[in-house]
Amino acid sequence: MNYIERRHKSVSSRIIPVPPFDYVVFGATGDLTKRKLIPALYHRFKDGQFDQQSRIIGVSRSKLSDADFQKAARESIDQFVAKADRDEKVIDRFVSVFSYIPNDVSDPAKWADLSTKLRDDPKVVRAFYLAIAPDLFGPTCEYIEKQGYYRRDARVVIEKPLGHDLESSMAINNEVSRIFAEDQVYRIDHYLGKETVQNLLALRFANILFEPIWNSAHIDHIQLTVAESVGAGTRGYYDESGALRDMIQNHMLQLLCLVAMEPPASDDADALRDEKLKVLRSLKRITSADVGKVTVRGQYRNGSVDGQAVASYQEELPADKKGSKAETFVALKAEIENWRWAGVPFYFRTGKRMASRASEIVIQFRNIPHSMFDHAEGAPRPNRMIIRIQPDEGVKLFLMIKDPGPGGMRLREAPLDLSFAATFAERTPEAYERLLLDVIRGSQTLFMRRDELEAAWSWIDPIRDAWDQATDSPQAYAAGTWGPSGAVALIERDGRTWHEDDN
Ligand code: BG6
Repeated sequence: MNYIERRHKSVSSRIIPVPPFDYVVFGATGDLTKRKLIPALYHRFKDGQFDQQSRIIGVSRSKLSDADFQKAARESIDQFVAKADRDEKVIDRFVSVFSYIPNDVSDPAKWADLSTKLRDDPKVVRAFYLAIAPDLFGPTCEYIEKQGYYRRDARVVIEKPLGHDLESSMAINNEVSRIFAEDQVYRIDHYLGKETVQNLLALRFANILFEPIWNSAHIDHIQLTVAESVGAGTRGYYDESGALRDMIQNHMLQLLCLVAMEPPASDDADALRDEKLKVLRSLKRITSADVGKVTVRGQYRNGSVDGQAVASYQEELPADKKGSKAETFVALKAEIENWRWAGVPFYFRTGKRMASRASEIVIQFRNIPHSMFDHAEGAPRPNRMIIRIQPDEGVKLFLMIKDPGPGGMRLREAPLDLSFAATFAERTPEAYERLLLDVIRGSQTLFMRRDELEAAWSWIDPIRDAWDQATDSPQAYAAGTWGPSGAVALIERDGRTWHEDDN
């Protein structure tokens, strides 16, 4: 066992049980519940973080019994939990906490009675997860209140799409905030639940090394990439949204905030969220005059991903959507107008059907001010840090070293390579595992506050408007590539290149 493994063994896997809860899941038969919520809760139950004193109460329109819902929970575990983690005895106990009530929140005449399922004990945490379309948030909150299920210490969980622009987002938040106060609202951005994203906080603020050089004096630029190999044409919602709203408005702006914010005084939810908000509010507005210069949108044509031929976005779309101008790729250059970051571009890139699934943040440092290695082979290259979010989570810091052995002074770049997967053998928990139980703990640190969400929309809306008014279409790129040529031109105009693995 090496040093890191020994240290790790002594600090890892601390399971801190949460208080008993009643989790009411609206939209209990939907995709989110099946794919994400049930598997995540199962893992937390299996690890002993909660037990049979807690209840998971499913609500949706389908006429199911408790037994049907328990069966559905089993199926979801079968489908979405790795075989090695499935334990029949644990599954039996886990599904015993599930019960179900059919209900149509949109019709008050048919409102069902939840009171038999909910416990009045103040020690039992009460949480409502709205895994439903946002137009049902209002009626659901009203149902909760009018039926008397609201408590001042109850929590409500919502998640995107939280609007398609600032105005619609405010309307959604207004509906929810008629009943629930801001300190009861948990807005999920599942990227904040990812281990590697939280690691950004540790990297920046639990080490002395980086903070002194984390600024425009030492950093040339930063790249944020979230590339996916999956397609999007068969997902109804995506065509309305496009990559700008689907990925940049939320996940990628959250990543930007964690990379660029000032050190918060504590990990208190508002201390952290105040700093994130300042970043969002300092983003330079992209006007319609600039949009052509600093943004690129693309849509994939057919091509090949992982050796498999795949159809174009247009071919995947249903007949009534053909001709859609939805972007499946976005590259853009953002700037933060504050003292720390003035003059440092942040290049964003995200897309579907790209060459591979790869999410990473590249911190490109400036070159050394003077090189003493006039006679050396190989000029010093500026340092670079790659924070790899997924897959192959880890951090690589590229340093210049002397090539070992005789042959004179020869310089070359080599990485300090910390692979989380290789170093820490344990399963990396899914984002929802952390987030679902943070709700029960009452910790809002990893959830978006309303003003953050609105600041993000305020920055996104002018870009979207300019695109909507433009007569051109998204640039074509072949599936299985890194996007349209315009994305390469965007960064090359500034004398820079996108980071590719091993260059
Ligand atoms: C979702 C988007 O929020 O995040 C999807 O709607 C995207 O389009 C997904 O595929 C990416 O999440 P992850 O965790 O797979 O990186």
